[in-house]
Amino acid sequence: MSWLHSLLGRKDGPARTGPLDVRHARQVAALHHQGGFARLWEPGECAALLADRAVVSDGVFLGSASEPCGFVMSRVAADEAEILSIVVAGGRRRSGLGQSLLCAHMAQLAARGAARLFLEVEEGNVAAIGLYNRLGFEIVGRREGYYAKADGTRVAALVMRRDLG
Ligand SMILES: CC(C)(COP(=O)(O)OP(=O)(O)OC[C@H]1O[C@@H](n2cnc3c(N)ncnc32)[C@H](O)[C@@H]1OP(=O)(O)O)[C@@H](O)C(=O)NCCC(=O)NCCS
Repeated sequence: MSWLHSLLGRKDGPARTGPLDVRHARQVAALHHQGGFARLWEPGECAALLADRAVVSDGVFLGSASEPCGFVMSRVAADEAEILSIVVAGGRRRSGLGQSLLCAHMAQLAARGAARLFLEVEEGNVAAIGLYNRLGFEIVGRREGYYAKADGTRVAALVMRRDLG
């Protein structure tokens, strides 16, 4: 389904994106816990990130809901930005929300003066790599053994990049 179709035709009401602030800390932590990450963000850590002026935080909301069903955060330094995390709620995936959220977020980052966006993604994260490929990111590096898995093994990170603007 295209992201535009998902924005216009959703039965929960249209999706909208918007900035997040410290009031969303618990919701962001709950979403992050659905992301399948080895290291979980706690609400206090989320609040600190949401209050950080160098971090741009956006959420996606369905209909009139005040709680986001997905979030993305990036840290901006000079004319570069790095995605810290992006998660769509488990039951809401594969309906265009991640794509519309990341598109809106990239526009916010460009408006903040970022010319390039970087991220690290676990090799084998098919959904995330599919999303980034679709939005024009390219692989520019690989960090061997970067992520520690619960079973003690280690997995490489791919470094991806996309120009903004
Ligand atoms: C990655 C994530 C944010 C994508 O969100 P989403 O709302 O499901 O993504 P979308 O529905 O907008 O998908 C957009 C495109 O990404 C690709 N994609 C998304 N999920 C995919 C999957 N499971 N397999 C293959 N491609 C996928 C497709 O190209 C898709 O377009 P299509 O549905 O028209 O084929 C979501 O899967 C998620 O929260 N994952 C857990 C957290 C995570 O891994 N974050 C990334 C850390 S680097």
